[in-house]
Amino acid sequence: IDPTLDLFEEIEKLKKEKNAVLLAHYYQEADIQDVADYIGDSLGLAQEAAKTNADIIVFAGVHFMAETAKILNPNKKVLLPDLNAGCSLSDSCPPADFAKFKAQHPDHLVISYINCSAGIKALSDIICTSSNAKLIVDSLPGDQKIIFAPDRNLGGYINKVTGRNMLLWDGACMVHEIFSLEKIIRLKEQNPDAKILAHPECEEPLLKVADFIGSTTQILNYAKTNPANAFIVATETGILHQMQKDSPDKTFIPAPPTNNCACNDCPHMKLNTLEKLYLCMKYELPEIKMEENLRLAAKKPIDRMLELSA
Ligand code: 13P
Ligand code: SF4
Repeated sequence: IDPTLDLFEEIEKLKKEKNAVLLAHYYQEADIQDVADYIGDSLGLAQEAAKTNADIIVFAGVHFMAETAKILNPNKKVLLPDLNAGCSLSDSCPPADFAKFKAQHPDHLVISYINCSAGIKALSDIICTSSNAKLIVDSLPGDQKIIFAPDRNLGGYINKVTGRNMLLWDGACMVHEIFSLEKIIRLKEQNPDAKILAHPECEEPLLKVADFIGSTTQILNYAKTNPANAFIVATETGILHQMQKDSPDKTFIPAPPTNNCACNDCPHMKLNTLEKLYLCMKYELPEIKMEENLRLAAKKPIDRMLELSA
């Protein structure tokens, strides 16, 4: 790439030239968030993908998110700056193993968290995200038997808040399970007025000490509207960019992980860079492709989620 190029300008030009829309998740690096047309949590991004009139959807996020956009838009080109941007949570639930598990529980309905592959979506009855999981589960009769996949932490949390006993697939997100409860409690002792904000992909002991639990959008709204001046943020650090933009006078402290890093980045989300984004828009590669039968099977449970969340 020519080092004299202003990538922000070039990306804006490419968007217009190609009638492309750029959707980004809050865990993307700050520059990508700033050049995006829409930034959101997984539900917001899926809703935006479902209603766009653009010819090309450029997805600055991870593979399952771009795949969801493709499932909803078979006739549009869906681009992901780095095809290797996967997800440890999605990887923790291989479709062949899950199909066997599901076959052992034929009387159960399957609710899957959107952080899963198209193969898992195709085996599911309803998709949910962290922002609508409770609503989706509550929409089913109390005696309905349910398998929840793939995140055991979100599933356990939803079991607790709904009083259900859903059967949980034993998957997890590497980013949200690496937070150090001990270090977070020490931080809270040093900042007693700070509120602890946690994503429901975190483990139960951390959720127990949290003042607020929610999706990225819900955490952002809480931080913006809560009168507290300081927040300890237990989710991926990309979110701090919007928090600081929304509330420049508040203090946001990234919750520390158990390793020696000061904060917690998702290695998959952070594979996308502004340079890769520019190249991907210029050459319209790499593109998400999907076999039509798989797409149709994976679309049904997503449509159900979108109907229930409208
Ligand atoms: P949400 O933005 O929907 O809360 O999802 C968090 C996440 O881990 C995405 O990978
Ligand atoms: Fe997957 Fe966790 Fe990264 Fe989200 S933060 S993309 S759930 S590994």
